[in-house]
Order: sequence, then structure tokens, then C-alpha cells
Amino acid sequence: MENRIRLDVNHMMADFLGMQYGIERASVDALEPALKRAQAAVEGKRGQGWLGWMELPYNQEQVVEKIEKVAARVRAEFDTLVVLGIGGSALGPSAVQQALNHLRYNDLPKEKRNGPKLYVEDNIDPERMASLLDVIDLKTTCFNVITKSGATAETMSQYLIILDALKKAVGDDYARHIIATTDAKKGNLIKIAQKEGYDTFIIPDGVGGRFSELCPVGLVAAACCGIDIRGLLKGAADMDQRCKTDEVWKNPALLDAGLMYIAMQEMDINISVMMPYVDSLKLMADWYAQLWAESLGKNVTRKGMAVNVGQTPVKTLGVTDQHSQLQLYTEGPYDKVITFLAVDEYRNETPIPEGCEDIPDVHFLCGKSHNQLIQAERQGTEYALYKSGRMSQTITLPKVNAETVGQLLYFFEMVTAYTGELLDIDAFNQPGVEESKIASYAVLGHSAEKYTAKREEMKNRPERKADYVL
Ligand code: PA5
Repeated sequence: MENRIRLDVNHMMADFLGMQYGIERASVDALEPALKRAQAAVEGKRGQGWLGWMELPYNQEQVVEKIEKVAARVRAEFDTLVVLGIGGSALGPSAVQQALNHLRYNDLPKEKRNGPKLYVEDNIDPERMASLLDVIDLKTTCFNVITKSGATAETMSQYLIILDALKKAVGDDYARHIIATTDAKKGNLIKIAQKEGYDTFIIPDGVGGRFSELCPVGLVAAACCGIDIRGLLKGAADMDQRCKTDEVWKNPALLDAGLMYIAMQEMDINISVMMPYVDSLKLMADWYAQLWAESLGKNVTRKGMAVNVGQTPVKTLGVTDQHSQLQLYTEGPYDKVITFLAVDEYRNETPIPEGCEDIPDVHFLCGKSHNQLIQAERQGTEYALYKSGRMSQTITLPKVNAETVGQLLYFFEMVTAYTGELLDIDAFNQPGVEESKIASYAVLGHSAEKYTAKREEMKNRPERKADYVL
């Protein structure tokens, strides 16, 4: 298939980096039985438990039809769409919008946009909400409230603020301005949505937040903004087919999981840097960071054995971060693997015109293009990392479009699922996030027993010392 993304792992391997810093092919061979078991386990659980997301490329025909219908209404009735959500309910919609729409989409005049302006509000900084309300007109704004659990404080507090503002701005007509995306049964949002009669989309069972971009969580905003959601799903299906084999060197996600596993478990490569050389893929690094961190950062195996595993994801952007972080990557600790995201073809061509004829160091750029310059800089960085014995891999999209982005999203989801199997951890829970949540509800004065108990527990923390506060 012409439009397929490619994974190039040459610079991960000992053939390039030597045995001290690279992965020997024999190590991959030795891992092969475990990789085959991981592939079989993931494939065997397709559609079950928390692997419901594996079926999303195939089982959403009716959902897509409904999304297209609601999107047509949103496009006809509203100038602005605001997503209220956090974590998996926000990172995917942001990443896909950045990838597949104009890079300055919201700044375009209405007739040049593919739909309403889009804001994804994934924080509760009061200044942020105030600033949003300064720039939107509630009368022409639609809100997509997204929460799988239907109970997330950040999202539900945003909902309350917007509901109140909408009632003041549009009176009884407020329900027309709200779309709910949530679980079919769990949580509060579904009850509210049913009572209020909001347009509602269901996040299917087995689709956790960070694996949810290819269900209504991501597809609603994308369709409203004119993105080809069928193309996204087609791309995901294509990657899924590529992952049907347990032959390691034919299944890109399986190979990548194997290499990442060897890097983190055998070589102490504890940091995974994602460096897109494509502005439209900049927010893919944010989306990936959540997927990788929340899925793999665990302290116990599925059998209950204590471990502390996971790789710290770092989000960067080429070429921008060549001028901020690359120094560390080439000369700092040998603890990172860099994943470049590249394209064969950018969607624009920016030639560099003639000028500065009397300054050879500037003039040499003339007649070239930004396209050539950014590709050369990516290759230069790849070479610098290779020369300093640092692992890198490159994922190339022939072009950024709905199908290749669908492939990319699904690829990383599969790499994460396989790596979770290899590490024998539960890649689909996030118990480590709970402590902070309970403690913050306790601070806020929630009266339920678990929070009052936590408030008491928190009092036992040692007193802060004045000496340590300057
Ligand atoms: O991946 C996850 O499950 C989490 O990061 C959630 O996406 C995040 O906590 C938001 O949860 P919810 O969609 O329930 O509001």
C-alpha cells in the first residue's frame, strides 16, 4: 500500500551503534518467543476487557453515521466548538486537529475553515476559563463535554461553569449547545445527558481514555472540523492488519515493542523522546506521552510482584528543539531513545528566494526550500545521534493525512499493548493517579468518608520547616 507509514530502526541496532550502545539482532531473536506470546495475547483478547479499542476500526459504521449527522448540525448552527475534557478525552482531539487541519485553523476566516473554530480546554486554571469566555460568543458556541468516567472533577466543574453561563446567555435553549460523550452507564454525565436530552455519544466498553481517540471522543470534534474520520478509521484498520502477524520483522508495532523493551529493561534506556520534524504532528508527542507514561509506568506486575517499570516520555519538536535539547541528547547520559516523526512530503512547498548574494554563508540557502532544509536538519540530527552512540528510530508518513494519522495512532496503541504484555503489567489502569485525586478532594473538603479519612491522614505529614522556604 502506497500510503503506509514506515518504521526504520537501523539506528537502534548494534550494526550501527556497536554492541555497547545498540541492540544486537540476537537479542531480538532471543526475545522472539516472548514477542510471539505478547502478540498472541493481545490478539486473543481483541475486543475483550480493556482491548475494546482494537475493534474500533471495524465496528462503528452506525456511530460514524450519527457523528456525521450531529457534525452537520454543529457546522450549520455554530461558529465555535469547545471540547471540555482532560487526559485521554482531550489529547487525542487536540493532536488530530493539529495534524489534519490548517496549522492556524482558528485564525482563518470562517469561509476558509472546514468548520467551527475549535478550542480544547483541558485545564482548570481559572485564567484559562476566563480567557476562553473572553474570546467566544456563547450564543454561537457548542460544547462537547467528554468524560469516560462521567465523574472527573476538572471536566464536571467546567461543565457546571459553562451550563450556568449558557443558561444566562441563551436561556432555555442551552441543551442545543451541549454534546455529551461518556460511558453508557457509569458516572454522572450520562444521567445528566439523558435528563437534559443532550446529543449523546457513548464511549464503548473496553475503550479507556488514552485509547479512545478513534471512538466518538476524537471523532466528533474531528468530524465537526471537516476531518475525514472514515479515513482515520481506514488507516487504523490497515495498521491493525499489519499487526495480525506474529512474525516480529513483519509486524512494525511488535518489533518496536521488542526494541523498546530491550532498551528499557536490558540497557537502562529510561527516557523516550518523541521528536516530530513536522509541526502538524507536534501534539502527537503530547498524546503519545500520556499513552506511554500512564500505560507503562507501574509498580506491580499482573501477578502482584513489585516492580518499577516504564519509560519517561519527553515531548520535543524538530528543528526547534535542536536549539534547546539536542545538546543533552548527544552528550548527556546514555538513557534515551529518540523517535523521529518524519514525512516524505510536506503539504506545502516553501522555496527560499534569491538574496544576500554577497554573503556566501547565507546565500547557499537560496534556491533551496524549507522542505529541503528541514529534511536536511532531521538527517543531520539523526547522524549526530548515531555518531554519539545514541539510539534513534524514524517513523515516516508518506504525507500527513487521515489515513496515515489513523495508522500512527493505532501503531502506538499496539506498541503500548505489546510492551505491557512483555512487562507483564496492566497497561490499562492508572492507580497511581488516584492518590493525588483523593488528596485533592480531601483538601477541597469533600464530605464522603474516604476523603475525610484522607484529610486526617494528611494531618500526620511532618510540619513544613520555615528554613526550607526561602
Ligand atoms: O487514560 C485515562 O483513562 C485517563 O488519563 C483519562 O483519560 C483521564 O483521567 C480523564 O478521564 P475521564 O475521561 O474519565 O474524564
